[in-house]
Amino acid sequence: MSDIDHIALSKRYPTIASLQKAARWRIPKFAYDYLSGGIDNEVALDRNRQTLNELILKPHVIIDEVIPDLATSFLGQEFSAPFGIAPIGLSGLIWPNAARMMARGAVETNIPYCLSTVATTSLEKIAGDAGPNAWFQLYIVNDETINRDIIARAKQSNYKTIIVTVDVPYLARRPKDIANGLSVPPSIGVKSVLQTAMAPLWAFDTLRAGMPEFENLTPYVEPGQDLRSASHYISALARGHVTLDKLKLVRELWPGKMIVKGILDERDAKTAKDVGADAIIVSNHGGRQIDSAPSPLSVIDRVRKTVGKDMPIIMDSGVRSGLDVVRMLASGADFVMAGRAFGFGTAALGKIGVQHVHHILSEEMISAMSQLGFASPADCKIN
Ligand code: FNR
Repeated sequence: MSDIDHIALSKRYPTIASLQKAARWRIPKFAYDYLSGGIDNEVALDRNRQTLNELILKPHVIIDEVIPDLATSFLGQEFSAPFGIAPIGLSGLIWPNAARMMARGAVETNIPYCLSTVATTSLEKIAGDAGPNAWFQLYIVNDETINRDIIARAKQSNYKTIIVTVDVPYLARRPKDIANGLSVPPSIGVKSVLQTAMAPLWAFDTLRAGMPEFENLTPYVEPGQDLRSASHYISALARGHVTLDKLKLVRELWPGKMIVKGILDERDAKTAKDVGADAIIVSNHGGRQIDSAPSPLSVIDRVRKTVGKDMPIIMDSGVRSGLDVVRMLASGADFVMAGRAFGFGTAALGKIGVQHVHHILSEEMISAMSQLGFASPADCKIN
């Protein structure tokens, strides 16, 4: 176990909000905007928070002593808590080698870490770092040979769980990223140089680590292509809907657990179930894809009714506290994932970020569950 002094650390960083504030000053503005921002006017991003804040849970206190235990069994794995780290693309912008820091933090705290297809660290490296705590998130591309090869690599690297993301039929158009000229490799304009100069530690570590690349996809880029054209090639490759046939193909090829991510509509939930998914993730991608999207909390009842009580449902989008995790469980989720909370932690604290976020979320969960009379994550139910 780690010897991190969370009590001392909590004096400066008692909440995810305090880590977010620190992250804002520690990494360049274009990187912070990428991590924290949403699409268009950020209505969906705000709605996620609003819906969570409005979910009222009533304390129930004259009961036999309840000592909450967060240990969770999910999809055949035992975890320390009912939450995990959601996939984040372009992870190297959060901090150089952020994916490896997160993967190792996930092992230390025993929660799942899901590596994105478009992370800047390869799935092979992360398998080495995180073993059974590593899950892999697959973006299906427009080339069956590549899809088959990535799935084969994930199998060969001993991943047991794959998350197929279905809610990115089109590369999102995020105003802040456009205004910042965000691109891979970073375009070196006056603005980004100034922003980088304001974050000297980040800049120094980035120089040492080298330019971030989409390491999972570089084997498929023609040798000799520069990073910028490689990145255009990858964007074009990734465009399009995940059709039923594509989903069926993954199911056919993947012997382990398959989770379908980005479900809001009950028809999609039914399709995922019919195809043989082991779980679904009710998510609006953290408010990053379409600004009119409902919050996951507002659709879970309909989704649950469609897939039935035995289908495991994961929920994400908007988690900023342990109480939020309890709210998601109480509304019917079996497991929860958080993206930005862990991103802020890593940007603020580097390789101990995941551990401290895990500490904050766990302490807040225990406090909330004690008030509400919930003894375990499975106990957190309002209906
Ligand atoms: C994401 N998300 C995401 N999802 C995915 O399936 N593949 C990806 O590559 C990414 N990339 C990504 C980058 C960044 C910067 C963010 C913030 C999010 C979505 C992510 O997995 C998750 O659904 C959301 O982050 C959940 O919302 P919160 O917890 O960030 O509010």
